[in-house]
Amino acid sequence: MRRLVGMAATIAACTTVVTVVQATPAAAEPQYFAAQRVGERPPMGWNSWNKFGCEIDENLIRGAADALVSTGMKDAGYQYVNIDDCWAEQNRTADGKLEPNHERFPHGIEALADYVHEKGLKLGIYTSAGTLTCQKTMPGALDHEEADAQSFADWGVDYLKYDNCNNQGRPAIERYTKMGDAIKKTGRPMIYALCEWGENDPWTWGRDAGAQLWRTTGDISDNWGSLTGILDQQVGLEKYAGPGGWNDPDMLEVGNGGMTDAEYRAHFSLWALLNAPLLAGNDLPAMTPATKAILENKDVIALDQDWAGVQGHKIRDDGDTEVWAKPMSDGSAAVVLFNRGSASTAMTTTAKELGLAGRGFRVRDLWSGTETETAGTLRAAVPSHGSATFRVWPEKKPSAAPLTTLALPNPEYVPADRPLTTTLKVTNDGSTPVAQLRASIATPAGWRLRGPGAFTVPIVLPGKSWQLDVTFEPVAPAGERVTLAAKASYLTLYGRRSLTAEGSSPLVTRPATGTTALSKAAWMSSDNGWGPVERGTSNGEAGAGDGHRITIAGVGYDDGIGAHAPSSVRIYVGAACTSVRALVGLDDENSGGSVGFRILGDGKELAATGVLHPGDKAQPLDAQLSGVQVLELAVTDGGDGNTDDHTDWANAAITC
Ligand code: GLA
Repeated sequence: MRRLVGMAATIAACTTVVTVVQATPAAAEPQYFAAQRVGERPPMGWNSWNKFGCEIDENLIRGAADALVSTGMKDAGYQYVNIDDCWAEQNRTADGKLEPNHERFPHGIEALADYVHEKGLKLGIYTSAGTLTCQKTMPGALDHEEADAQSFADWGVDYLKYDNCNNQGRPAIERYTKMGDAIKKTGRPMIYALCEWGENDPWTWGRDAGAQLWRTTGDISDNWGSLTGILDQQVGLEKYAGPGGWNDPDMLEVGNGGMTDAEYRAHFSLWALLNAPLLAGNDLPAMTPATKAILENKDVIALDQDWAGVQGHKIRDDGDTEVWAKPMSDGSAAVVLFNRGSASTAMTTTAKELGLAGRGFRVRDLWSGTETETAGTLRAAVPSHGSATFRVWPEKKPSAAPLTTLALPNPEYVPADRPLTTTLKVTNDGSTPVAQLRASIATPAGWRLRGPGAFTVPIVLPGKSWQLDVTFEPVAPAGERVTLAAKASYLTLYGRRSLTAEGSSPLVTRPATGTTALSKAAWMSSDNGWGPVERGTSNGEAGAGDGHRITIAGVGYDDGIGAHAPSSVRIYVGAACTSVRALVGLDDENSGGSVGFRILGDGKELAATGVLHPGDKAQPLDAQLSGVQVLELAVTDGGDGNTDDHTDWANAAITC
């Protein structure tokens, strides 16, 4: 021990700080810009759609350009300012040209392009490979490809997003190639972004059509179900991406308010690992410091913009936990430990699994910035709906404190009438010891800790761990969630280090005896493809409370749950209920789509429909619940993506 303390003191005394100041020419543009413009790296920028929809005008676009500069986004690598749908007049001019909306873009697109260019940024625009765009507020470019591409070039546009709505059923490759050719003919360099939603495998022909990126899925929305649904559809596409052509899992929702910061960090880390175009979709001038810190994380952006452009992919799938990895051009590897489940958990992978050889590795946690070393295992306590992101370099000699993890897993749910048991664990995955470990655990309000709350451990050797089971007894549990928290501090050869762990679980009680409408029951969690799951109405699609009367095949229902695939509502029933029933179907507010309904008990399927279509009569779906702790109502997208998948659990009720 004395040796450890002595070494730490020597190291501290010998450390001199050397600051190297590199002169940067004033006019130099951010490092990734030039390569993005030729498609050698995924484009980065901002797009108006996710936050503003059709509510756009030239002041908003100018404001976004200003904010890219003033917030530091430009310096971090974001250069495109992209106008999405709804910027043009409904009708073309007498000579067949597109015209910017007179009221909202009175100075025209050319003036806007000049403004954006003066800031050292680039301007993007949008139209559809159809007769109208998706919002039908303006003409699409189908059969007007050359005229429209020429207008864009004349105005100084640098990027075209080309959508798929109102395409008249004409072949995609033909429609998209025609625009690619028209852009080339203008002679103006433009990023050409196909937005074909992955319907005709654009990753196989996008480059030939002249595109640098192609959307792989339907639209993202600002929620966890949408994010994970899109992520699942990226598996296997990695081989099609690389410098010159990128898979596009859609724009970022970071900062739009529908997810937690931990969920947004996972979103951003995974999109970067996938070499996705990083197009912020939030209100830039109004972004919070937390949103800014996510979007401007240079270490994570570096994964996305790595010059080799080898797209990351899923290397392990253990159900709720997944490991995604990406080889980097400097011989390091990036890894995202992704926990999509409802409980926090400790996750591991190894340098070997990431494709790295050697016996020692330098590890940077890309969200905390902390550098440590490992003898091979990468470990993190990953919160529910969260991630840990590391970059790992092979290293001959350890030069940092050992990678040490403090884990205090919180369960998926906490019944209010039972003791809560978990395990506090400290693991040393490095190659030097940690000493004088002091750990303490906080007692949640309304609970009593059985035994002491603070511990001292003399040493945790490399490759070893220290752990202790802890139990809390309910005294007067209250509130919606129970938060578990612990902290630890310890001495290493490189000085004292500290760690914290925190997670929370829903506090649950059994439903009342009798029959209860599920629209009125307590839900442990609800995930939905679009907007929140609605109680008592259909889904509506965007915000909470925008649904309508539940209507299936012309029949209206006063009660039920309105979902949108992919969806999951989880309810604690605590082995106290006997059955669940509902009438299920697609709501009449859909114009297409197909879905499947499933009832699960503790993760096992108890009942399911086949694939249902709009107009199908409501189907009764019921299941026995004896012994079931957690009931789940799930909706899948029927195998055709989740466009038009408003689904109803009419009159859903449990009997307990
Ligand atoms: C489609 C696209 C979206 C957005 C909207 C605009 O849905 O996929 O990204 O451009 O159209 O109407």
